[in-house]
Amino acid sequence: MQRIQSKIKTESVEFKKNKEAYEHLLQEFRDRTEQFKQGGPEKMRKLHTDRGKLLPRARIEAVLDKDTEFLELSTLAAYNIRNNEFPAAGLITGIGTVQGKKVLIIANDATVKGGTYTSEAIKKHLRAQQIAMENRLPCIYLVDSGGVFLPEQAESFPDRNHFGRFFYNQARMSAEGIPQIAIVMGTSTAGGAYVPAMSDETIIVKKQGSIFLGGPPLVKAAIGQTVTIEELGGAEMHTAISGVADYLADNDAHALELCRNIFENIKNQRTEQLERQTPEDPFYDPKELYGIAPLDLRRAVDVREIIARIVDGSLFNEFKSRYASTLVTGFARIDGYPVGIIGNNGILFSESALKGTHFIELCASRKIPILFLQNIMGFMVGKQYEQGGIAKDGAKMVHAVANAGVPLFTVIFGGSFGAGNYAMAGRAYDPRLLFMWPNAKISVMGGAQAAGVLSIVKQEQMEREGKTMTDQEKAILQKTIMDKYDYEGSPYYSTARLWDDGIIDPVNTRKYISIGIESSLNSTYTGLKNGVFRM
Ligand code: COA
Repeated sequence: MQRIQSKIKTESVEFKKNKEAYEHLLQEFRDRTEQFKQGGPEKMRKLHTDRGKLLPRARIEAVLDKDTEFLELSTLAAYNIRNNEFPAAGLITGIGTVQGKKVLIIANDATVKGGTYTSEAIKKHLRAQQIAMENRLPCIYLVDSGGVFLPEQAESFPDRNHFGRFFYNQARMSAEGIPQIAIVMGTSTAGGAYVPAMSDETIIVKKQGSIFLGGPPLVKAAIGQTVTIEELGGAEMHTAISGVADYLADNDAHALELCRNIFENIKNQRTEQLERQTPEDPFYDPKELYGIAPLDLRRAVDVREIIARIVDGSLFNEFKSRYASTLVTGFARIDGYPVGIIGNNGILFSESALKGTHFIELCASRKIPILFLQNIMGFMVGKQYEQGGIAKDGAKMVHAVANAGVPLFTVIFGGSFGAGNYAMAGRAYDPRLLFMWPNAKISVMGGAQAAGVLSIVKQEQMEREGKTMTDQEKAILQKTIMDKYDYEGSPYYSTARLWDDGIIDPVNTRKYISIGIESSLNSTYTGLKNGVFRM
């Protein structure tokens, strides 16, 4: 393979200015992440530990193999929503390793409003289960939750992708041979009782865990029976009388050890469908990404400079390098795993879409995962391009992405606008993981374009009614739209609402994609399959 020849001058003023500004952006990202990782208020954390319970991240650390990486997903879920009263949406999810096997962890944070589920928590739980299903990862549920956040039940209970879907997914995964293990470390009430009840094996902590469909106050109100928590749904009762749980643990640490024991008897389902080579660090320092990542999206960045700082040895076999230069395609390795890379180098034209389609077909037929590096303003517009059939060529690439049959990974390192988002494996195309860099932006089009479109529409509407728009009215309309797009296009707005799997430090891109590829090895890649391409 050929080494990418970087043209970046790390001594240049432009590079240094970008790096300095990027480090501010990163500091803001780290501060927000640290703040959310604390969990609920100090008072609730103290109450939690005074009860002899471990905090959720300590629980996760204890169940994972020592010195292994935990890829935490969507840490900033619910950021800037409801006055930040639900850090991380009160739920920690991620991919880790237990007894050498990749697993998916879903852990309630009881210090955040009793670990109850708002709409963001529901989305986060379901997204984690989707990752488990697609990659066939065993699930570990660390249960400590008061169930649905009752004031907002309409956003959490009744719909298809609400609370009930958790248990449907558990049943489906169990049937597919994807192990479902629950540890009840606190409350598991009402609908929440089904998390342990639906699991293949369940551990419960003595005097701490409880499982019931209706708690003592509800039982009293409904049937007039007076009963204690322990009698109704305590650990000793469930392991000796009801059989709802299988193992009795003395405390959190013991429960987590019992869970590790269960994994001694769970088969590793990893396949050998990718030929891994000895990993090699990139030749160019990944930290240089801070000086390269586009802070101003109008500034062109050669995506090869990004690729050079992500892939092994900065080695890249570029495919069709002389053709359709606004889309860069080629083969490389990440942490020893083979990967096809598709990166934007400008706006998408018909020929770039065709080149992308051809390359996706190559990867799909060879069963190689694909990494999409998104920095896309959209497809080209205008008479010449429409007459050239850009819509049908773009559609071919969207077809190929949707049917690739190999794991897709998407990293938004700049802008993600319009149909370019679809052709480049945006959220709707089920990439196995989708990350954003802290400088990224996402919306249907840029704010300035949207403001332009809407003011023309408004002007035409007023003209139809015999009125005219004053310059001041136009300026106010445009500013309102631009401000809204600016706010909603932020990666924090996106990640708060689970449109991605997290904002990441660019330097970690390589590591996280490697974990993603390793996790995908439990699933069998189905490979090339196409629908009807409009010719
Ligand atoms: N919906 C909304 N808020 C809830 C809630 C629920 N289901 N359960 C707890 N909360 C809130 C409390 O109002 C409190 O909020 P505040 O800090 O703003 O005052 C916070 O969560 C912590 O609750 P608290 O009872 O002080 O903490 P705890 O650790 O002692 O107990 C629970 C936590 C979950 C065991 C307990 O609150 C409980 O039993 N809740 C009801 C559970 C239930 O019946 N759910 C049915 C849903 S299907």
